[in-house]
Amino acid sequence: MNKAWWKESVVYQIYPRSFKDSNGDGIGDLRGIIEKLDYLQELGIDVVWLSPVYKSPNDDNGYDISNYQDIMDEFGTLADWEALVAGMHKRGLKLVMDLVVNHTSDEHSWFQQSRQAKDNPYRDFYIWRPGKDGQEPNNWVSFFSGSAWQYDETTDEYFLHVFTKRQPDLNWENPKVRQAVYDMMHWWLQKGVDGFRMDVINLISKVPGLPDAPITGEGKYQFGGQFFANGPRLMEFLREMKDEVLSHYDIITVGETPLVTTQHGLEMTHEETGALNMVFQFEHMDLDRERDSVTNLLVAKPWHLTALKEIMGRWQKDLETGGWNSLYLDNHDQPRGLSRFGDDGRYRVESAKMLATFVHMQQGTPYIYQGDEIGMTNVAFPSIEDYRDVWLLNGYQQAVEQGVDPEKVLAMIQPTSRDNARTPMQWDATAHAGFTSGEPWIKVNPNYVHINTQQALADPDSIFYYYQKLIRLRKQHSVIVYGTYDLILPDDEQIYAFTRTLGNEQLVVILNFKAETAVFRLPDHITYTTQPELLISNYEVDPAQSIEQFDLRPFEARVYHLTN
Ligand code: NOJ
Repeated sequence: MNKAWWKESVVYQIYPRSFKDSNGDGIGDLRGIIEKLDYLQELGIDVVWLSPVYKSPNDDNGYDISNYQDIMDEFGTLADWEALVAGMHKRGLKLVMDLVVNHTSDEHSWFQQSRQAKDNPYRDFYIWRPGKDGQEPNNWVSFFSGSAWQYDETTDEYFLHVFTKRQPDLNWENPKVRQAVYDMMHWWLQKGVDGFRMDVINLISKVPGLPDAPITGEGKYQFGGQFFANGPRLMEFLREMKDEVLSHYDIITVGETPLVTTQHGLEMTHEETGALNMVFQFEHMDLDRERDSVTNLLVAKPWHLTALKEIMGRWQKDLETGGWNSLYLDNHDQPRGLSRFGDDGRYRVESAKMLATFVHMQQGTPYIYQGDEIGMTNVAFPSIEDYRDVWLLNGYQQAVEQGVDPEKVLAMIQPTSRDNARTPMQWDATAHAGFTSGEPWIKVNPNYVHINTQQALADPDSIFYYYQKLIRLRKQHSVIVYGTYDLILPDDEQIYAFTRTLGNEQLVVILNFKAETAVFRLPDHITYTTQPELLISNYEVDPAQSIEQFDLRPFEARVYHLTN
């Protein structure tokens, strides 16, 4: 396997709106991030991925961009951005920007032009179609509820938007669109950007003819993912982007790719024939939730550890031959991983450390979402008025209009909402968790009083220092980065255990995913010639204890290093 700095790195995601406010307007900003660079350096991460900071009317919190080459007013100025990148590079940190080019904002000048007339030179920058029998051109549902088409009176046609109606999809079939995107990427790269996280990048090629989606649920509009995800020209477009832009720089690239299989993942990330370094797959994010066919909202469902093992293991093994994984349990679009896969009550600290071990010990590049490193949890706001996410609010409104009891809708939303991850970063126990001196744009999680960075930095046994240790270990042991993954105990519903092997070195990673004690027995095929070394654990372990068999306490995690 080829070595690469982005395989050896740990990425930290900042959702700027909720990270740190420097000017008291209640919205996080670039100067706020600059204030916290020493904190990030202390944690030990290598790369920061910044969710979008470009000009935007914020219909979808910056994922609707009206000018790719300028900074959102609430976040600051280009000069602030330059100060941020300089501050990061001075500390040896790299900066990944979000590249949102499946769609723009409807306020982008390209779209403003495009909607004016059918013969406008920008018309074909977007996907316009006449109606069909007085209805939308096809039956696709938008990811965020309602039709994926919006009628526009000026030219009596509809435009496609797979997200909100204020996020029109760009027409990648048009070479001028692609060239404009590549030019913009060069502009940022020349300003010192170290890579891109590419928003829903596998949606850029749509199946020609835009066929109707099969009827799989209730309602007028149906999920058309098979016609707009992983489309026929996707790899051609990505390889063109690689030739035109990516291959000219030493950067890190990660594609956000819903609805992908491991085959797609390998194809996109293959070091010779692919185009991106890694992708975010979503199979494990879909494990404990399903789409409610009536309301189109995501609702929680029980999940099984064996299913998680099956998914993660398949990604580990199928990408082994030349691809690379990204490793994550949450981000700004997901509830907190700790609340989903761990225990955010009694065993909050233990389970946060266990889950961190899980993420960091598989093969791939680990991603930490802001607040994971202090064990931030989901929030259950008591009223719909407290929620901010456009997806959730659209879904809520639609469900209530359909006659579903508002209290019931609220209860459906609480565990699955994206706002769980968007509450302000908890810095200290002062008002609004030290995030802002003003009124925050979204309420803080009330548990900030005891869960905050000040507390974490003062406690040598905190989740923060556990992450710091995991990151340091990655720099010390190449088996953590490059070792081959193999699952042990595939059928166990409580213990998740696997090995990583590189030459004569082996890691044994042993994780208890439940609040009960379990007995771990080392399988016979795992051998060692010297005394196993415990690299990290979230409990005190008696050094004299044998690795052959022991009790694994609630949410206990251990990583042993063996040599043969
Ligand atoms: C994925 C982004 O992560 C999410 O926040 C956004 O709403 C959609 N793509 C649309 O850009």
